[in-house]
Amino acid sequence: MAVDGARPEHEDRTSGRPLPPMDVGIAVVMVGLPARGKTFMARKLARYLGWLGYACAFFNVGNYRRATFGAEVPASFFDPGNPDGVAARRKVAMTALDDLLSFHQERGGQISIYDATNSTAERRHLVRERLEAGGLRVLFIESICHDASIVEANIRATKLRAPDYANMEESEAVADFRARIANYERAYETIGDDEGAYVKLIDVGRQLVLNRIAGYVPGRIVNFLMNLHVLARPIWLTRHGQSLANVAGLLGGDEALSADGRDYAHQLKAWLEGRMEKDGDDVVVWTSTLQRTVETAHTVGKPAMQLKALDEIDAGVCDGLTYADVQRKMPAEFAARQADKLRYRYPQGESYEDVIRRLDPVIIELERQRDPVLVVAHQAVLRALFGYFTGAEREAVPHLRVPLHTVLELIPRAYGCEVVKHRLGPRVGESDSG
Ligand code: SIN
Repeated sequence: MAVDGARPEHEDRTSGRPLPPMDVGIAVVMVGLPARGKTFMARKLARYLGWLGYACAFFNVGNYRRATFGAEVPASFFDPGNPDGVAARRKVAMTALDDLLSFHQERGGQISIYDATNSTAERRHLVRERLEAGGLRVLFIESICHDASIVEANIRATKLRAPDYANMEESEAVADFRARIANYERAYETIGDDEGAYVKLIDVGRQLVLNRIAGYVPGRIVNFLMNLHVLARPIWLTRHGQSLANVAGLLGGDEALSADGRDYAHQLKAWLEGRMEKDGDDVVVWTSTLQRTVETAHTVGKPAMQLKALDEIDAGVCDGLTYADVQRKMPAEFAARQADKLRYRYPQGESYEDVIRRLDPVIIELERQRDPVLVVAHQAVLRALFGYFTGAEREAVPHLRVPLHTVLELIPRAYGCEVVKHRLGPRVGESDSG
């Protein structure tokens, strides 16, 4: 069983210039039995922190184990009484930890997530000692499930699809996975108050226990985790119907809808009613405070909440100009934006990075909602939201395609989300003005 040299791909969100090092150098260490949603939380957290702009990476020890020993190991591999299995698992866990440390020490990493069971006090002590010696602050996140239905749903949604069980009958795979969990249960110790900073999440956010949580980033992490749930419900993102400013190619402004834009609003209403008939749910509707989104939602006919955070990127001194005007009158500004659309800030206006930061509370609220949500907003804002849900690289966010008269449907899946595009009419030109 060769161990050295096995390095699976891990998710690394280092693209882009790191934010100022406010309260970073943090290792988040997951704790919990298998099928407690650790990987679901760890991935979502990595995606959220990466989207906010932190250089964040996710290290899953199961991936290291699969890369080293192959996916199909028997349940006895996880038996705490099997010395070969214990040594092998310890070795891969330490290899992942080495990579995590080098992410911080050599590659500008700011926040890392160590996704493993870490199910004994002894293992956590070892991990914490190594991380603290590497100059990192440690935050444990323990996921505990008393509700057997959550564990069962987790096994079916994720574990049976894992490469570990690719070549096994479902009933055999379930039995093997239960035997694996039983092996972990024999050694499992919940985290104690003397083990440092921790968040215990019981039954996916039904109850939260915090110990020694301090600082900005740990606070953001707790806020994010306490709003997560695992109910599958769609989120629908759409731009407003075409506006008069879109027709003229003008940036910004607060214009009313064009005739085609009003037509789209009616089509959106019919489409949504069809969906509600099918799904039988209530829908939550959010708009920006700008006329074109409010008018679109008004036609849809559902009560809508206006959120200032959903207003289009502020084009500052370029508001009311066309892109051609900007290129002609302010060529240096035009070139600077072309060179770095993510970080470029319009004079007296905003950058995409600014938009992402102001959308942070919207993301938390979208995660928290349990009913379908329709967001009627603007191009830059929707690019940022769509980028979060699809896990796009930050650099790619300002270039994502969010056409007019289209609903982007996001359907949560085990470790991400599926996107379905509903192109409604009328067909209009690709307006790049928000
Ligand atoms: C695994 O090998 O799947 C997880 C290893 C662990 O964290 O116990």
